[in-house]
Amino acid sequence: MPGTQIDIEAQIEKKIADAYREKFPISKERHEKLINYIPGGATRSLSYFKPYPIHIDYGQGAYVYTHEGHKLLDVTNAYGAIVHGHGDPDIAKAVQEGIAKGSQYSTPTDGQYKLAKLLCERVPGFDRVRFLNSGTESTMFAMRTARAYTGKDKIIKMTGGFHGTHDSVAASTKKNVITAGIPKGMTEDMLEVPFNDFEALEKAVTDNASELAAIIMEPFLGAGGVVLPKEGYLEHARKLTSDNNVLLIFDEIFSFRVNTGGCQKLYNVTPDLTTVGKVVGGGLPIGVFGGKEEIMNIFCHENSATPLYHSGTFNGYETLMQAGYAALSKYDEAAVAKINALGEQFQKGLLASFKSNGLNIQSNQIGSLINMHFYNEPITTAEQVLKSEEKLHGLMHLSLLNKGVFTIPRGLFILSLAITTQEIDFLVEKIDETLKELLPLIEEKYNHLLL
Ligand SMILES: Cc1ncc(COP(=O)(O)O)c(C=O)c1O
Repeated sequence: MPGTQIDIEAQIEKKIADAYREKFPISKERHEKLINYIPGGATRSLSYFKPYPIHIDYGQGAYVYTHEGHKLLDVTNAYGAIVHGHGDPDIAKAVQEGIAKGSQYSTPTDGQYKLAKLLCERVPGFDRVRFLNSGTESTMFAMRTARAYTGKDKIIKMTGGFHGTHDSVAASTKKNVITAGIPKGMTEDMLEVPFNDFEALEKAVTDNASELAAIIMEPFLGAGGVVLPKEGYLEHARKLTSDNNVLLIFDEIFSFRVNTGGCQKLYNVTPDLTTVGKVVGGGLPIGVFGGKEEIMNIFCHENSATPLYHSGTFNGYETLMQAGYAALSKYDEAAVAKINALGEQFQKGLLASFKSNGLNIQSNQIGSLINMHFYNEPITTAEQVLKSEEKLHGLMHLSLLNKGVFTIPRGLFILSLAITTQEIDFLVEKIDETLKELLPLIEEKYNHLLL
């Protein structure tokens, strides 16, 4: 009965929201103060959720601590920027020493050398790299590089791909569809094709080859739902671009952490240009773009009287370079294997929980990145992700906070090396409890999600 449906949804929603309000009263007080100075009380759109966002005091290892004194298992890990857990001693030491030494000097430095060398040694697509301060800047410059190098303007991106917030890529994912403020001209040279659609990609590349500078794509849709490439899709993109004199850009800002050499090493497909960020900065703001020597030489002051201009007050910030090197040098094969095994343990636990609760819902996993979807078919496209039941994601997120787990609202879980196998068990247990809590609602209103 429709009346019953509304009741049960409202009842469960109220119960979860009341428990949240009761558990996090200081976050509410802080939110009410902050909205006087920051619109909506959150300076990242994604940090806001109803009834009000949680305010974190500090983090240590696998946990964050709220002002109320609650300890929450952190499976957001700064949306992927943190991989060693909070307060890692080696990163902290590098930062303290860096600041004590004068923080930055706007010259080439030892830290730039060490981090650039390590990246070029590890990532197949990197012969040469340049540093900047965010992922957004990296994709902006990778695209500019492709356009400058090829002398062509058009770029293809994938529906559901996320490449940051600069004008020409801003509108792509579910959470980022608002395009107000972006002049039409900024996107008129952007083409979009559905991820994992072999034919659409082939048509878009061959139809536009003479004007097409590049394809920019994540090897898998990250923020767009951890949607993995179909077998042969990355190879298809590689071949099409090579055959048509078009560059291939892999945006590995999110995906880099799945392997020491990024997803390109895992899938053995080497792009012409690559962007990385997040974990590469050890939790500090970073962006890197780079690629084949011949292409990156476009910036080389030694070879050209008119190199492409790329500057920035904080580019190659020495303290950050040292922190990034401290983080990345110990994110070695053993560390990657360890964190990926945690991801697999989590995935196994989730699938068992779905089954035992009689649910036909999905979890997409690669390495330490996992995205649950309240959807009843295997997810291979961005369109399917959009159909995942948003309401259930919101309820699960809030309910998990009540149970001591700090997650990303849309069902995305990002692990850190500070998490133990016992904590993965705890995480699965809490998700299982949450699914049981939501089950009456799913049976009533979302019964397409039942086995
Ligand atoms: C694949 C990808 N590209 C670009 C970005 C933008 O990076 P930033 O938030 O550092 O600007 C992100 C951030 O989530 C990302 O996941």
